[in-house]
Amino acid sequence: MAYLLPLSLALLVGTSFGLSDKCYTLSIEGGGTHGAYEAGVLWSFANYIPAEERQWDIITGISAGALNSRMCAQFNYGDEINMANAAINAWESLVEMSMIAAKWKQGSYYSMFFKPSLYNTEPMLDFLNGVCGTTINRNITLGVTDYETGEFAEYNQTIGVELFTVASKASASIPLVFAPTQLEGHWYGDGGVSINLNADKGVSFCRELGYSDSNIVVDLIRDMNGQDRPVSMPMNNSKEVIDRANQISDYYNRRWFLFDFAHSFPNVDTRYVAEPSQQLPPPNGPPLDFTLGVMPWEVELGKADGQKLVVNGMKGWEHLNLKKLSDIPTTHYF
Ligand SMILES: *[C@@H]1O[C@H](CO)[C@@H](O)[C@H](O)[C@H]1NC(C)=O
Ligand SMILES: *[C@@H]1O[C@H](CO)[C@@H](O)[C@H](O)[C@H]1NC(C)=O
Ligand SMILES: *[C@@H]1O[C@H](CO)[C@@H](O)[C@H](O)[C@H]1NC(C)=O
Repeated sequence: MAYLLPLSLALLVGTSFGLSDKCYTLSIEGGGTHGAYEAGVLWSFANYIPAEERQWDIITGISAGALNSRMCAQFNYGDEINMANAAINAWESLVEMSMIAAKWKQGSYYSMFFKPSLYNTEPMLDFLNGVCGTTINRNITLGVTDYETGEFAEYNQTIGVELFTVASKASASIPLVFAPTQLEGHWYGDGGVSINLNADKGVSFCRELGYSDSNIVVDLIRDMNGQDRPVSMPMNNSKEVIDRANQISDYYNRRWFLFDFAHSFPNVDTRYVAEPSQQLPPPNGPPLDFTLGVMPWEVELGKADGQKLVVNGMKGWEHLNLKKLSDIPTTHYF
């Protein structure tokens, strides 16, 4: 029997936390129902990255990314394929908005002045309790915005199963549409109000465990549209100037935290950075599209985009049309 013991220990070691010479982090962006796209990318990361290189030591997320991260929390290190399947099933099960948010019966005009949001998001907590399981097996950090102090705040799994689910709902409380969420005496709104991707937390977590930056591997899943760099063109009238201004400001709003991350952590191994290769619906308005068939389509696009990155070995920032670090504007946030 004696020889069985080292073998079983070896098996345990293969699926447990932080025993590799590298620290792996995954960070997932906010973006409403584009969480479905992210689940598709996650599936390809889980299926195509070698098992020992995708047992992320920490997963961080904002809003839709926080919902995905919260769902991931129930799966052990090494169980990433089941984790991705569960995330896909959760998004694909959302066949109508009323499953997470219902219009207040008094209507939109009344809600604007006498309710905290256009929709009542109580159903969202029931939905999340149904898909998040009853155990926590991984390190996860979610970001929220404290509406009272105006500060960004983070929660991790140490808060406990039930409150952690509330924290994920808080992170996804898209202003105006969804109600702010109360947690530990604070009123929280969407983490994306302050920053839409908390990848820096993954790095600080690994640093605290003693890893040097060159041994920290960072994967990012983005889900926002508008990723193209504005191309050069002349303006002819005021309408074109305002459209142009919106286009440029949109581009930087959706990327400034990536620029900061790239400049703040130039020595970490930024491995896969997934972004939608096509415009995700709807073309205008908040990213909440429950039209039948849209979420499965986003899942498939996410799978295809994620597979392309891993199988073709497209690492780092290059394929984001940003070329070199010196091409990325710096904003010195961290
Ligand atoms: C989270 O990380 C710590 C190290 O900071 C580790 O000791 C712990 O086991 C991890 N927790 C889970 C649930 O994996
Ligand atoms: C997790 O949250 C607790 C409580 O807020 C905090 O003390 C701890 O530093 C956090 N851990 C990490 C790794 O962020
Ligand atoms: C301004 O006019 C030029 C020449 O007609 C055109 O090529 C360009 O696209 C216009 N600019 C914008 C912002 O539409």
